[in-house]
Amino acid sequence: MTTNPASFDRAQLLARALNAFHGRFGGEPRLLARAPGRVNLIGEHTDYSDGFCLPCAIDRETLLLLRPRHDGRVRVLACDEGSELDSFSLTQPIQPREPAGWANYVRGTLAALQADGVKLQGADIAIAGNVPLGAGLSSSAALEMAVATAFDALAGTGLDVRRKARAGQWAEHHFAGCQCGILDQLASAAGVAGHALLLDCRTQETQAIPLPPDLAVLVIHSRVQRGLVDSEYNLRRQQCQQAAAALGVPLLRDVDKALWQARAHELPLPLLRRARHVVTENQRTLDAAQALRDGDLQRAGELMRESHVSMRDDFEIVPPAVDRLAMIVNEVLGPQGGARMTGGGFGGCVVALVPHGRVASVRSAVERGYRSPGGEPALVWACSASAGAGLLA
Ligand code: GLA
Repeated sequence: MTTNPASFDRAQLLARALNAFHGRFGGEPRLLARAPGRVNLIGEHTDYSDGFCLPCAIDRETLLLLRPRHDGRVRVLACDEGSELDSFSLTQPIQPREPAGWANYVRGTLAALQADGVKLQGADIAIAGNVPLGAGLSSSAALEMAVATAFDALAGTGLDVRRKARAGQWAEHHFAGCQCGILDQLASAAGVAGHALLLDCRTQETQAIPLPPDLAVLVIHSRVQRGLVDSEYNLRRQQCQQAAAALGVPLLRDVDKALWQARAHELPLPLLRRARHVVTENQRTLDAAQALRDGDLQRAGELMRESHVSMRDDFEIVPPAVDRLAMIVNEVLGPQGGARMTGGGFGGCVVALVPHGRVASVRSAVERGYRSPGGEPALVWACSASAGAGLLA
């Protein structure tokens, strides 16, 4: 279900987590970690083909309070899940919990850190977040990166952002059943305030791209439930692998212009369409990073619109209501910015780059012109690009 947190204020969030910590565990926590959600500006469904993405971390985050224990037990209190408590021991191999849910992101990340050689210590933990759930803004990656940041600090290992991100990705693959790429975790781990991040998912290197100062990052939730996400997602991933194999390359990242022109016609449908999305999206992502560096919002907007159409027609992950929502925003913006569906697809949010002066007109056009299939208005969140995961205390 979608939650719409009443407040995005960190002080309130911290008060909620602290209250819960005091109430359940008593005494004071020793460490405070935070990790943000993310929104992807362009470069969709390219990460697991080793391609390029251009996300930014956003000012919606998960906070984690921790106090170490000496008996190898981990107790995790989830303030946003009815104050549910999960408890397990580090002296046994860490297993997924049944039924699956939020706890598996914590357990999976810890299992991955342990396998990576991080010396885990037991702890009492309280977690509270204001990343909207189920909206495609990576609340699960925020949770994973908060956990990785806190336990890394406790162990004094000093993991770099890539190792933290890979631990979260491992949790998704093995404890949550989603064969995701590295986009969400890397964006949450490595975000830079005021910047987008150009991710090269092959090298897992990130480059900070300054966002023009007059620009708002609007995230607009369609209220369309993301049905079938994991199974459709995993199917798209398989299709991309099949297309790469048919073209004789390890992954679609390895398809250059010459190869595409010579061999694309050999691909059967729908593989041709899937591959065309990824190959063209990689180029659009590099071009959009350049356009932002140049402060060319018009070009960045064009590329976002092209990306949206490619996701709709070639990758076939845009439901009609989300398509309408993106069209409404693009019509208001004209050449001054752009909008596209963002994230895994099949529902969720539209992201728009909008000059501050146009935010109000986008809001009112969406209010006037859009209702979800269930009759709900969209939710519009003005976000700013934030720093990646870290310790606050
Ligand atoms: C989800 C996945 C990411 C990425 C996006 C699509 O968010 O978790 O790895 O594949 O979808 O770009």
